[in-house]
Amino acid sequence: MNNKKIVRIGLIGRGLMGRMHANAYTHIPTIFPDLEYQPVLQAVASRNEEKGREFAETWGFKSFENDWRKLIERDDIDAIDICAPNNLHAEIAIAAAKSGKMILCEKPLSHDINQAKEMLDAVTEAGVANTVWYNYRRMPAVTLAKNIIDSGKLGKIFHYRANFLQDWTINPDLPQGGEAAWRLDVDAAGSGVTGDLLAHCIDTAMWLNGAIEDVSAVTETFVKERMHQETGKVQPVGIDDACIFHCHFENGSLGLFEATRYARGHKALYTFEINGEHASIRWDLHDMNRLEYFDHRDESHLRGWRSIHVTDGEQPYMDRWWIPGTSIGYEHSFIHQAADFFKGLEEGNKGCAPSFEDAYKTERVCHAVLKSAKNRSWQQV
Ligand SMILES: NC(=O)c1ccc[n+]([C@@H]2O[C@H](COP(=O)([O-])OP(=O)(O)OC[C@H]3O[C@@H](n4cnc5c(N)ncnc54)[C@H](O)[C@@H]3O)[C@@H](O)[C@H]2O)c1
Repeated sequence: MNNKKIVRIGLIGRGLMGRMHANAYTHIPTIFPDLEYQPVLQAVASRNEEKGREFAETWGFKSFENDWRKLIERDDIDAIDICAPNNLHAEIAIAAAKSGKMILCEKPLSHDINQAKEMLDAVTEAGVANTVWYNYRRMPAVTLAKNIIDSGKLGKIFHYRANFLQDWTINPDLPQGGEAAWRLDVDAAGSGVTGDLLAHCIDTAMWLNGAIEDVSAVTETFVKERMHQETGKVQPVGIDDACIFHCHFENGSLGLFEATRYARGHKALYTFEINGEHASIRWDLHDMNRLEYFDHRDESHLRGWRSIHVTDGEQPYMDRWWIPGTSIGYEHSFIHQAADFFKGLEEGNKGCAPSFEDAYKTERVCHAVLKSAKNRSWQQV
């Protein structure tokens, strides 16, 4: 770490994303040693003292706080990483921005569109480096799709199609709320599959295919009441269990999106397909190191879908990993985003995309989707 500028990380939340981000930071000095800025795991905040201290020890954080506010107050923290449930993002991010700290925030930006705008205003006013962890952009095959589209190979785009299918909430006895089931509680999550799953699809879609103009959506809540973990009472379920929407993109193409937690047999089937005038691309999270590509300009007797194994050193991010032909995993997309964030600091305190501004645009699409489903009408974004 000699001659390096250090970024002292204060991590909030020690759940799935807390572990994922801690893992990402630990890889930066070894896999991206050339970066001028390097992270130091300075402190973690968790309400549970025993579990928080254990987490700090396991992942190598230097210290622990039992209240996230203490991290914001500390002078020895440079960046706040928000891995807490959605309803906490705004309060934490606004406080962090006011204290001049960089912010890496989990998606969606917030559980509430107005609070999302306040978050954007706060980081803009403070001028702090920021990013939102829409990590799928940094899967090498997805980045390659972006490069292919930007090179113009697809020609005019006609269709964008995406799905995010899961099956983990079919059981009506599953409670809502509390530590394990906050995603089912509308007060904590803000929405169901729209903010949780479609937000990812929308971020990728707008990155690959440009802005979305208007949307028409349907949502459904299949299980209408669930016991709330914290009150013990059976309460109405306020989240969307499934959502389907179609839309117009600004470039004239049509979009079709579906997300559900009721697709038996699917755990995290995130797929997208883009059809252009000359060529098409498709991708599937279950086979994340492959990108499928069809080019109509190929000689007709050879024409067909190519399955590109995105593991060669010339393909995005892959010069950093092991040897050509060997696969990497889900966690690597977070390592890549962390590396891009630190790289962004070299270029003038910028952080990296997607920024709060980008994530706010995604938030606006999600908001329009939910409004459209509620009003049964088309909504401008
Ligand atoms: N980028 C992705 O692909 C991705 C994947 C999963 C989750 N997420 C997002 O990450 C965030 C966290 O999700 P998760 O899956 O890690 O959830 P989780 O339930 O696994 O972890 C949340 C953690 O936050 C902690 N927490 C709750 N209130 C707190 C408080 N007041 N102070 C400190 N800690 C507190 C909980 O104890 C828990 O450790 C959510 O916003 C979620 O949408 C993003």
